[in-house]
Amino acid sequence: MGLLLRGILLLAACTFTTGSDFLPGSKPSGQSVFVRRSGGSEGRAASIVKRSLPAWLAPSANHRIKRRSAEQGDSCQSLQGSDTKLADNTHRYTFNDLSGSVSLAWVGDGTGVILALTTFQVPFFMIRLGQSKLYRSENYGKSFQDVTNLINNTFIRSEFGIAIGPENSGKVILTGEVSGGHESRIFVSDDFGKSFTHRDLPFIPLMQIVYNPESSNVLVVLSSSNELWLSEDFGSNWKKIHDMVCLVKWGRKNTIFFTASINGSCSDRGMLKLRRTTDYGKTIKTVASKIYSFGLGGRFLFASVMTGKGTLRMIHVSVDQGETWNMAQLPPVGHEQFYSILAANDEMVFMHVDEPGDTGFGTIYVSDDRGTVYSKSLERHLYTTTGGDTDFTNVTSLRGVFITSVLAEDSSVQTVVSFDQGGEWVPLRKPDNSKCDATAKDPDKCSLHIHAAYSTAMRLNVPMLPLTEPNAVGLILAHGSVGDAISVMRPDVYVSDDGGYTWIKALDGPHHYAFLDSGGLLVAVEHSPTQPVNQIKFSTDEGQCWGVYNFTKDPIYFTGLASEPGARSMNVSIWGYRESLLSQYWISITIDFRDLLTRDCQDGDYVPWLAHSDDISDPKDGCMLGYKEKFLRLKKDSVCYNGRDYQVDPEPTPCPCTLDDFLCDFGYYRQENSSECVEQPDLKGKVLEFCLHGKEEQLQTSGYRKIPGDKCEGGNMPERKEIDLSKRCVSDLVGPELLVDGHSSKSVPIVITVIVIMLLSVAAGVVFVKKYVCGGRFLVHRYSVLQQHVEDNATEGMDEPLETNHTHNGKIEFHDDSDEDLLE
Ligand SMILES: *[C@@H]1O[C@H](CO)[C@@H](O)[C@H](O)[C@H]1NC(C)=O
Ligand SMILES: *[C@@H]1O[C@H](CO)[C@@H](O)[C@H](O)[C@H]1NC(C)=O
Ligand SMILES: *[C@@H]1O[C@H](CO)[C@@H](O)[C@H](O)[C@H]1NC(C)=O
Ligand SMILES: *[C@@H]1O[C@H](CO)[C@@H](O)[C@H](O)[C@H]1NC(C)=O
Ligand SMILES: *[C@@H]1O[C@H](CO)[C@@H](O)[C@H](O)[C@H]1NC(C)=O
Ligand SMILES: *[C@@H]1O[C@H](CO)[C@@H](O)[C@H](O)[C@H]1NC(C)=O
Repeated sequence: MGLLLRGILLLAACTFTTGSDFLPGSKPSGQSVFVRRSGGSEGRAASIVKRSLPAWLAPSANHRIKRRSAEQGDSCQSLQGSDTKLADNTHRYTFNDLSGSVSLAWVGDGTGVILALTTFQVPFFMIRLGQSKLYRSENYGKSFQDVTNLINNTFIRSEFGIAIGPENSGKVILTGEVSGGHESRIFVSDDFGKSFTHRDLPFIPLMQIVYNPESSNVLVVLSSSNELWLSEDFGSNWKKIHDMVCLVKWGRKNTIFFTASINGSCSDRGMLKLRRTTDYGKTIKTVASKIYSFGLGGRFLFASVMTGKGTLRMIHVSVDQGETWNMAQLPPVGHEQFYSILAANDEMVFMHVDEPGDTGFGTIYVSDDRGTVYSKSLERHLYTTTGGDTDFTNVTSLRGVFITSVLAEDSSVQTVVSFDQGGEWVPLRKPDNSKCDATAKDPDKCSLHIHAAYSTAMRLNVPMLPLTEPNAVGLILAHGSVGDAISVMRPDVYVSDDGGYTWIKALDGPHHYAFLDSGGLLVAVEHSPTQPVNQIKFSTDEGQCWGVYNFTKDPIYFTGLASEPGARSMNVSIWGYRESLLSQYWISITIDFRDLLTRDCQDGDYVPWLAHSDDISDPKDGCMLGYKEKFLRLKKDSVCYNGRDYQVDPEPTPCPCTLDDFLCDFGYYRQENSSECVEQPDLKGKVLEFCLHGKEEQLQTSGYRKIPGDKCEGGNMPERKEIDLSKRCVSDLVGPELLVDGHSSKSVPIVITVIVIMLLSVAAGVVFVKKYVCGGRFLVHRYSVLQQHVEDNATEGMDEPLETNHTHNGKIEFHDDSDEDLLE
């Protein structure tokens, strides 16, 4: 039974209407726009080559790692006799509520406060009739109190979710509708939802209100007529800052960036201005114009700027909040293509550049530490234009590991992993305890493929995305299949305990899963939308053995698991509903696993573990980006409690440098089979943008640059004298035609595009949307375990059968014509 999450698609659609995506163009105001002299997009000034060295030069490329074994004993034994312990710690709460959807939000860290908002909504002509109820728990969901009176029975717009303030501010905003949607009222709380006060808004919001991440009293929001409104006193007073704003984002240090259309509308992409205010709107500065879109990632501000050549646009990057810009050495794209920031931190960014044509794939580039010079990382990277779906996943449980999917030549979708921050991508190892499925040509040689956002968008039976947590070191839980490509058959759950090097099959069939106690305890409930369930599975040895507990005698229709974000809790709630003769009602069953782990972990329960390595005693092993990290990890057969205060404490040691630790700088490249960076012969006259915008220190180069985040010391440092690039640039820079500014360049016809780009939010958060058809009525179960500003616009979706025409040989295939299916 295929389960479709249409929510994701709606999310993407909303993203488009508010103009949120990252990128296109800008010219810094008051600065010149430079038009490359030799036209055309071919002949990039710097050729972009792959960062990774040929295998024979890069010893670290051979990852042969054995599975971390259970040290001794059979830990499956230790799970027996747990039923009575758990039965005493199982708490049921039945909601006297027939609503179709419930949204959950945790308020604060370690407070145990959960708000549950239920919404009953009937679309009635153009008016929406709705009713909301609010419940609050102070004990991790064990019991709830009906606090609907706090919101005076107002209809809350659940598509905006529950906006939880940053840090531990205890702030909550609910956006309500009054007078049949013609007016808006917000309910705000600053005491973790204990009390609410209401404020009437002088506008109708278009999006969820966004907190300043550095000062939770300051809020911004766009109105339905694209005005930018700001409040400095947590919503009491609002002032309008700007008209015709298309996209707004908080930057660092109280900065607000937004794109505005001077004239017309936000569909005027490519003619927008990028503006900035650092004093909450008192002064506004235009930092770039001819903008298509912009994005923020780590310390980088990206803008895609029209080049003045047809509809081509290019990425510009700024590391000083838009004061100065450099042109990123990435290919320009046309109106039907897009750029997307896949992941970014203060050191580097993973950038996806779409291929021309509706191919469904593009190329991943990884940046240097300035965000300007890029190395090619992965070709044929799956990223559909229409659905905005990519499987790109930062494996947060091990440094440097990323998983994503490629679209192979035969149109099948295959998973690849990089253990060195995008330097090299390889297939995942086949799990030892699994056989290759029908997609494999050779029954003994195949690899593991992971289901992520693309499978979800394709309506496969994949209830959850891959799960990793920084404090559950090395652990990954994910749905997958074993073969030559991702299979459309019922997926199983696989687990890795070493950051993706080795895998085993953990559970048969699709499941919802969660980490508790920093990975010391895993829990899972089988995903079966049509059959009621009564069992939860749990594992204390990283997914090798699973115990089963019947949490109720009377099975429930299960909709999802909820546990406090951050994976430190021992309490997990099973949400679902029961059907009685005439109605359905919500139920949550919370299990406290604390009594299962009878003792606190002692020193002897932990063993040293070297990341990225098989042999902790080998001094050369485990180096990744110039250093290795040793962790103390819980023994698999230790059944004990890490505790809420458990800290991951890596012991880093630097490694000697090798050429593997460097990438070639601007104007240099690696010839095939060589590790040396050689100067690019055709550099002259093609580097104008870089030369003109580059700061002095950026123009000094030895041809090599450390890979961002690399901390190697000593060893084999490439020797080369510094060359001043600006000297080479100057020769070609004379000539006033290069200093064309925005006014003198003739205006470009703008093609209005319908490209949807989904910017992957780096903010932690999980959104699931599930929808079940129940007796002709929609029953939506919705979680927003987002702690920060919510990008949760997902709403309706429904079960649909699997699209069989997308399969061949049991593989998922990509088809151009799938757009309609996706957007119907
Ligand atoms: C609810 O309505 C009452 C009476 O109209 C009012 O006094 C109270 O402030 C309202 N509460 C909120 C949270 O708006
Ligand atoms: C403003 O609109 C007019 C008419 O639609 C157009 O000619 C002009 O180029 C626009 N200006 C800008 C800056 O978009
Ligand atoms: C990946 O996740 C880790 C852990 O949360 C984070 O430290 C790192 O910056 C992320 N990498 C990128 C490129 O976003
Ligand atoms: C648990 O529930 C299953 C059915 O879901 C049943 O077969 C089994 O006997 C139950 N076990 C116990 C100990 O009640
Ligand atoms: C589980 O919930 C109880 C309250 O019911 C709380 O006291 C306890 O700290 C929670 N456990 C964890 C590990 O969060
Ligand atoms: C590079 O090395 C590979 C394998 O050693 C070889 O097949 C290839 O021809 C070499 N390429 C060049 C340009 O030398």
